[in-house]
Amino acid sequence: MKSSTMQGARILATGSSVPDSYINNHKISEMVDTSDEWIVTRTGIKERRLLTGTNQSIIDLAVLAAIRALNKASMNPLKIDLIILATSSPNDLFGSASQLQAKIGAYKAVAFDLTAACSGFVLGIVTASQFIQNGTYQNILVVGADVLSKWTDWSDRSTCILFGDGAGAAIVQACSIKDNGILGFQLNTDGTQYNKLSIAYKEEMYPHPTLQLFQGSFKYITMNGKEVYKFAVSKVPSSILECLKLLNISTNDIDWLLLHQANERILNAVADKLSIHSSKLISNLSQYGNTSAASIPLALDEALAENKIKKDDIIVISGFGAGLTWGTVIIKW
Ligand code: ACO
Repeated sequence: MKSSTMQGARILATGSSVPDSYINNHKISEMVDTSDEWIVTRTGIKERRLLTGTNQSIIDLAVLAAIRALNKASMNPLKIDLIILATSSPNDLFGSASQLQAKIGAYKAVAFDLTAACSGFVLGIVTASQFIQNGTYQNILVVGADVLSKWTDWSDRSTCILFGDGAGAAIVQACSIKDNGILGFQLNTDGTQYNKLSIAYKEEMYPHPTLQLFQGSFKYITMNGKEVYKFAVSKVPSSILECLKLLNISTNDIDWLLLHQANERILNAVADKLSIHSSKLISNLSQYGNTSAASIPLALDEALAENKIKKDDIIVISGFGAGLTWGTVIIKW
């Protein structure tokens, strides 16, 4: 969708953070019946980072990623008007964004969580762009952070090979309409398929003795891998094509394809369907696995650090995952 703009919006700076601890495929092979060869062939993942130790949460990763982005922009945190924390693994179900606000000293910012699994960062950037383009705010911090290792069943070989922990941040800033860098977006949800990928709340078997009230807790990630794979490979290319059409941009004009880092085969299949050369694919999946809401900003931050992305480059960014949710945002750098 193209929005009516009062001012432009652009990504000013990015930052990222991953834990130091990692687990490679060989180590996982000692825990469950799998092998490095199986995991690399099916997913492209070689290792992933894990947030170990006590009292560590997504906030520790999110704070570091945010501070790195603020430092790159030489921005005082008091200039931030809004913080959007895209996460599906908060350390407080009432929301974790306020802790991030306090820890980075962004005391003037409104802060809220956004839950949309692996599409969270795309939805966060689109939400931020709307607040800026309609003239409400000037500076917005969008952070994608997840620690899915805490919700992974480490005895389930079909899921424990996939996920890792991390955080990535972007500062979105107002600019003149002619410099607008967030060109347009296309977003979708299919709630009928919610159970294909889920961290479900499970009630205890017996109710509270006096109230007859069933309480419970959240359990592990469950996933129908084949269905999620088919969904991603069919829906993501359509979303990208629809978004390109809205903006009158051809696939030949794309400089970089930055997809949620779920599986190397998904990345290649989407690029193939769009006839985009693999050299335009941004991928860091082998080192980090699927870091959910963090995967896109983490990969973007690394691509920028490697000087891959140049001024005026067109970057097509797509997220997809639980919900099911998927969507595209197109950026001119
Ligand atoms: N090691 C060895 N064998 C395994 C493993 C493993 N780690 N996991 C599954 N297998 C076995 C299965 O048991 C099955 O054995 P069987 O034929 O004897 O029954 C066989 O391998 C094939 O299993 P499939 O599930 O059909 O394997 P598939 O080729 O589909 O690959 C995978 C599995 C990698 C999970 C793939 O389906 C995939 O990547 N799907 C997308 C997942 C994804 O991206 N999820 C994240 C979405 S983002 C978000 O919102 C969090």
